[in-house]
Amino acid sequence: MFSALVTSGPTYEPIDPVRFIGNRSSGKQGHAIAAALCKVGIRVKLISGPTMIPDPEHVHVVKVRTAEEMYQATMQSLPVDVVVCAAAVADWRVSHVSTQKLKKSQHLPPILTLVETKDILKTIAHHPNLRPRLVIGFAAETEDVLEYAKTKRIAKGADWILANQVSEAIGFERDMNQVTLIADKLVEPWERMSKEDIATKLTARIIEKLTQA
Ligand code: CTP
Repeated sequence: MFSALVTSGPTYEPIDPVRFIGNRSSGKQGHAIAAALCKVGIRVKLISGPTMIPDPEHVHVVKVRTAEEMYQATMQSLPVDVVVCAAAVADWRVSHVSTQKLKKSQHLPPILTLVETKDILKTIAHHPNLRPRLVIGFAAETEDVLEYAKTKRIAKGADWILANQVSEAIGFERDMNQVTLIADKLVEPWERMSKEDIATKLTARIIEKLTQA
């Protein structure tokens, strides 16, 4: 039985006890991938940021909030045969989180100092001894999608990248998506389809790859 690890949803980076920096990821695509992998008999662990989506059946779900928590939960879940990093992990967190609510009456508009979060996909792809056989990431871009995605695949050390354009009509928060599968010497645009159908198609490709000699 193959094993898979999927990250999904956004992360929330706290500013103070009541505020955070987040993003518009719904988790729909990552959760659909976890469900599709599980359906074909793969043992799946889903590391999920805050989302409204119900847990997929028969999937071991670990719920996290911050990028650091997602990083720790993911690393503790290795080794696996395949990892799919579908989460929209925050790139930055606030360096000093206030323990008390910031009050307008006591503070000028705060200047937040941000520090970079750990890159989960990159760390897994470069892991010296626990690198999964297949490392898959996403590249959500608003412009120059394919060029950015190709560069990202190499920079992160991923085997495959699913590149998608983020717009009001497709991508974040939507049921439909349009992705291009990018691998070494492969740029394969998939037609616009539901996130479930993308998950099913990706699952078939993953099985094909893992069962290759
Ligand atoms: N990713 C990750 N850990 C991070 C940031 C991103 O695992 N700290 C993963 C995402 O899950 C996705 C891929 O890296 O699979 C690309 O994420 P994206 O946000 O498109 O790229 P970034 O590396 O954040 O670069 P940029 O925001 O500059 O485009």
